[in-house]
Amino acid sequence: MAIRDVLKMGDPRLLEPARPVADFSSLELTQLIVDMHDTMRALNGAGLAAPQIGVGLQVVIFGVEANPRYPDAESVPLTVLINPVLTPLSDAMEAGWEGCLSVPGMRGLVLRHADLRYQGFDAAGQPIDRGVSGFHARVVQHEVDHLHGILYPMRIRDLRDFGFTETLFPGQNLQDD
Ligand code: NI
Repeated sequence: MAIRDVLKMGDPRLLEPARPVADFSSLELTQLIVDMHDTMRALNGAGLAAPQIGVGLQVVIFGVEANPRYPDAESVPLTVLINPVLTPLSDAMEAGWEGCLSVPGMRGLVLRHADLRYQGFDAAGQPIDRGVSGFHARVVQHEVDHLHGILYPMRIRDLRDFGFTETLFPGQNLQDD
């Protein structure tokens, strides 16, 4: 178990597509998922993708309990999602503020699909198939973007909607996610 260093924007490893997991029974996968949970918890993040700790595999974790950083956000169950496939369930798009542990201290406004189906596998290799919306859908799209080498600033339509968290949201004590 270990808290791993999180790569920051500018590191070329964050721009590489991740490979699918082929062996769900490997010790390396088990260890990776433990380290990802340890790291996300230590940094109080909402999600983490394996490439963010320098591992180019299609593994993301996410989960949000009632959290002062997201006063309006519904909770999201703690989930390990491997080899994900996303399918929008409607044409609706929603704008929302995002942060990222790889882009510390910043927030940007990003359009995401409002209604989303996500499929993949859990840590034991069991299928996951969920239909979600709103904040849950946003978190999944943000994390899965990391598996395609996409960081949220690349999706900001107007760079005036990008800035330092403490300036955009003074006094709210928002942290990185
Ligand atoms: Ni991120």
